[in-house]
Amino acid sequence: MEFPKLRPRRLRLKENIRRLVRETTLTLDDIIYPIFVRYGHNVVEEVPSMPGVFRYSLDKLADAVKEVADLGIKAVILFGIPEKKDEVGSDTWSDDGIIQRALRLLKKEVPEMYLITDVCFCEYTTHGHCGVLCGDTVCNDETLENLKKQVVSHAKNGADMVAPSGMMDGMVKAIREALDEAGFSHIPIMSYSAKFASAFYGPFREAAESAPSFGDRRSYQMDPANAREALKEVLLDVQEGADIVMVKPALAYLDIISKVKEMILLPVCAYNVSGEYSMIKAAGRLGWIDEKKVMVETLLSMKRAGADMIITYFAKDVAKMIIKGEI
Ligand code: PBG
Repeated sequence: MEFPKLRPRRLRLKENIRRLVRETTLTLDDIIYPIFVRYGHNVVEEVPSMPGVFRYSLDKLADAVKEVADLGIKAVILFGIPEKKDEVGSDTWSDDGIIQRALRLLKKEVPEMYLITDVCFCEYTTHGHCGVLCGDTVCNDETLENLKKQVVSHAKNGADMVAPSGMMDGMVKAIREALDEAGFSHIPIMSYSAKFASAFYGPFREAAESAPSFGDRRSYQMDPANAREALKEVLLDVQEGADIVMVKPALAYLDIISKVKEMILLPVCAYNVSGEYSMIKAAGRLGWIDEKKVMVETLLSMKRAGADMIITYFAKDVAKMIIKGEI
């Protein structure tokens, strides 16, 4: 009998050697935690479809972010739910806006935290679309004008980085110019470059009260069937001056993450979106899967595909596992 000469199993025999040859790891340096801040007082409310994720009023926000910082997480992305919505989403560029107030508070109370702002309009408009309406769709160029006001206001109030998520044509260029002209050339742009019109955003829209009141987002977000078009979107954002590009959602789009990573030299962010989170939480609660293991495997798949960083609602759960040495 001839024995195998090549035995890959030698490197799998003990945990020590498995760790030595491990190609991909999850670290707290690569994790961004999304936080929902809303109007009102004394509010800490769990999002029904996202167990473990809460919406905080401003007076409760600093403690929530301190808890995140104490776990070793170094960056958060902020989403706002304003008291008053209007046709254009003017809360997004007001100094009294929910995000502006959150930024000023957090800069003071948790200065070590890196503050990223989601730059969009859907949570702020009465119709729930991501910009100014013309007829039944979003007007691109009018929306760019409002985006400029929004990012300058975020930067003025303490944002460390802005993340436009509306999929408007030319948004990165417009935002870059506006920031530079206002004296914020040091503020990076993380663009939601390849953002698909996905049903995986369902729980987020409940959390952020941002579901469109009519129609859907398919006239601005991408068709899930298209990979080459995603690469085109990414290349345009690189040309327009993006500093980091994002692929969103992540789990059903690992092929896109992998291709983007090979194609460009900028850091790539994956957004592990709300529906991806809720599916794992739900199946875990039913006892149908091992929630922690599936979470780790899922996040690893994104790193393996090429993500340099991941925005994830699991951030605190992962941090606790890292602190305990479980991963
Ligand atoms: C737009 C925005 C959305 C998400 C992040 N930014 C919603 C949308 O495009 O409808 C979704 C994130 C998630 O599902 O976790 N402001």
